[in-house]
Amino acid sequence: MADMKTAWKAIVARALAEYVRQKGLSLSLPAADGIVVERPPKPELGDLGIPMFPFAKLLRAGPNQVAQALAEIIAADPESSGLGAAVAEGPYLNVRLARRPELSRILDAALSPGWGKTQSLSGHRVMVEFSSPNTNKPLHLGHLRNNILGESLSRILRAAGAEVRSINHINDRGIHICKSMLAYMRLGGGRSPADEGLKSDHFVGKYYVLFNELKEKEPGIEAEAQDLLVRWEAGDAEVRDLWQRMRTWVLEGIAQTYARTGVQFDLYDYESDTYELGKDIVLKGLESGVFYRESDGSVWCDFEDIGLDTKVFLRKDGTSLYITQDLGCAVDRHDSWPYDRLVYVVGNEQQYHFKVLFEALGRLGYDWARDLHHLAYGMVNLPSGRMKTREGTVVDADDLVDEVSALAKAEIEAKGREDLVGNLDAVAEKIALGAIHYYLLQVAPAKDMLFDPAASLSFNGDTGPYIQYMGARATSILRKHGAGEGNARKGKADPGKLSGDSDWALLRLVSGLPEVIDAAAAAMDPSVLAAYLYGLASGFSTWYRENPVLNCADFDVAASRLDLVSAVKRSLEAGLALIGIPFLESM
Ligand code: ARG
Repeated sequence: MADMKTAWKAIVARALAEYVRQKGLSLSLPAADGIVVERPPKPELGDLGIPMFPFAKLLRAGPNQVAQALAEIIAADPESSGLGAAVAEGPYLNVRLARRPELSRILDAALSPGWGKTQSLSGHRVMVEFSSPNTNKPLHLGHLRNNILGESLSRILRAAGAEVRSINHINDRGIHICKSMLAYMRLGGGRSPADEGLKSDHFVGKYYVLFNELKEKEPGIEAEAQDLLVRWEAGDAEVRDLWQRMRTWVLEGIAQTYARTGVQFDLYDYESDTYELGKDIVLKGLESGVFYRESDGSVWCDFEDIGLDTKVFLRKDGTSLYITQDLGCAVDRHDSWPYDRLVYVVGNEQQYHFKVLFEALGRLGYDWARDLHHLAYGMVNLPSGRMKTREGTVVDADDLVDEVSALAKAEIEAKGREDLVGNLDAVAEKIALGAIHYYLLQVAPAKDMLFDPAASLSFNGDTGPYIQYMGARATSILRKHGAGEGNARKGKADPGKLSGDSDWALLRLVSGLPEVIDAAAAAMDPSVLAAYLYGLASGFSTWYRENPVLNCADFDVAASRLDLVSAVKRSLEAGLALIGIPFLESM
């Protein structure tokens, strides 16, 4: 059975043609697949809502009047009757779908292996750059937001059929790296992270903080760090040796944080390899007149015509800058894997940088520059105040996961559920990830936000743990059935038994998953999926309070509802995986 949305688009297109014929108008009408079909805000209004505004404009009639006329035409269309009924509701044509065929179709789809995968981006290649930390210190709270945005976006794009490569652009050279090295040279005494009993990235981060303390007493130390950078650039063996050791410590530590939080990359770029890329591109652009040379020898581009200032691309000594490197990397990446889109998940303080980068690439004649996208996200603050990303008090990512994990563990213990959950520490950690990832993704990326650890863990609100809990509830019903409990095994599942309003409302929630995946992929916004999963979880909660499954006296209804529970479980499982939230079989 073809999908109902498509079927109804065709019915409406036919009705429009009939309307035009009756009125004796001659106009060209929109193609069926161009007709917008929404979901009405409340299920009482019907299952599909088709706004009349675009047609009203075309037909030079009021939208309410068009809705009325189309409803009448459709009522007389014999092909529509098996698919549902359309009623005019103000400027909307609302459709109540015929339930029986839709129930079978959705349950079949939701219980088959491809559920949670769509085709909307098949054939599309997308590269997603995210995380991109600096190797002078561990990850902080801002990275947790970045990481889950990038990871989740990569998974959503894959689920929508795209071929995705995730890439981590590691900033492992520069003055900030030399600062932690210098502090270590002064104060480290050759010790290793193990000697100090510290996680290796935290160990390096400690020396970065110590550098700032040294600087208070000894302002000249800044110049020393500069010297170290010069020696690094010259390839000084001793400096490179220490650099390599400390870099490995940070990268190993950060890799543990990635593993712990379920973040993965297909590719890594290291700034130590790429920092001189882009110079030749700038020189070519100088020849073609995209860039110009100042009298001191530096190379610039003028973006004032688009309100963006002039920007330097090569210093007067010929050395490159952050932007130069990004030019080179974008071109290199496109050469080695021609992508349809490259998304940079980077904080919104770099908005100007990416505008300039994309504009410069366009002017240089790379036509794919229009397919570059900066997924800019806002700051994450803690209730206690603003977190700093450069120096000073930073909320460490590992510490935050530890803290939320400990809170989750305490909560399980307070409820006396230790035996139920199995491995207490592992489950607490999974709940913590559910709490953190959901809380960070729930807010649209562009907005600044406040991270409240206690609120993120609330078991009865719009939170990750609440959704995890509903997944565990569904699993528990299925588990009991599997163990021989209940009436479902005495009956025969028949989708036709689920046509009651509450069963139908839940099935409609389930059926939304593919559309939501496509919408989240198109908007590059995981919060769309987060909101859907909360709606599904709370819809399930309402439903199962009112509708017994295993104890249902009608055995066939029990068996049919059990299928609906499976469909809910599979949808939650598939959806949660796309936003980096572990599914819990019991909690
Ligand atoms: N490491 C940089 C920072 O901490 C972010 C890198 C963003 N990626 C890029 N291709 N420019 O600010």
